[in-house]
Amino acid sequence: MANTRRPLISGNWKMHHNHFEAIQTVQKLAYALNPADHDAVDVSVHPPFTDIRSVQTVIESDEMRLIIGAQHCHFEEKGAFTGEVSPAMLAKLNVALVIVGHSERREVFGETDDDVRRKTAAVIAYGMTPILCCGETQEERAAGGTDAKVTGQVKAGLAGLSQDQVAGLVIAYEPIWAIGTGLTATPEDAQSACRVVRGVVADGWGREAADAVRIQYGGSVKPVNAPDLMMQPDVDGLLVGGASLDPDEFARIVAYHRLIG
Ligand code: PGA
Repeated sequence: MANTRRPLISGNWKMHHNHFEAIQTVQKLAYALNPADHDAVDVSVHPPFTDIRSVQTVIESDEMRLIIGAQHCHFEEKGAFTGEVSPAMLAKLNVALVIVGHSERREVFGETDDDVRRKTAAVIAYGMTPILCCGETQEERAAGGTDAKVTGQVKAGLAGLSQDQVAGLVIAYEPIWAIGTGLTATPEDAQSACRVVRGVVADGWGREAADAVRIQYGGSVKPVNAPDLMMQPDVDGLLVGGASLDPDEFARIVAYHRLIG
């Protein structure tokens, strides 16, 4: 059966762009993309929390076909969690996609697999779609541990979800050694890990969910490597950090589809 998964290219801005810069970036991005891009590819932007309301306003008032995303959230609806933002607050701003368990959250802020599982479930409970991140370190890779690491993270993150819930979500394979380093996994390496991820979903949640779940690759994605990555059968999208900050460069990544048809 032909793959009917819709490509998803997401820009993770991390801690960059204040709300003025965010508005400009989104306006330039909308200008750089054409209707054929939007027909072919879903495009999301994931600004810092302080930008989201401004980004929402400009996207909705100008009827841009961009999906509003967030980089992270807490799993509780409300409460005494100083500094945190709840999934309910994001849903209220029409956020549709939330990155969960990014390696920087896991490594710098100590998020555990159990936190990631709770956040994934909370994002779904508020009608949004998680982008569940997984990926191995350089040491794990050198020791041949890529598949085991990714398998463990995906199983733990999706625990307790139904087949339908898993079918509707997004998983991002992001090898940690490739994030922000300029080192990209080869298309074959990306395919191999994304195939493992799909296999984990098939084993735990059935073939239908595995065929439907969208899997992104992330880690030093650039306009020049996007087409080869997107040609891989199990790579359905890209999670882009540094290159998403420049709207023209990000638009050139989205334009991969013009090259591979
Ligand atoms: P990068 O980041 O594209 O700058 O490597 C990717 C990510 O962390 O999502």
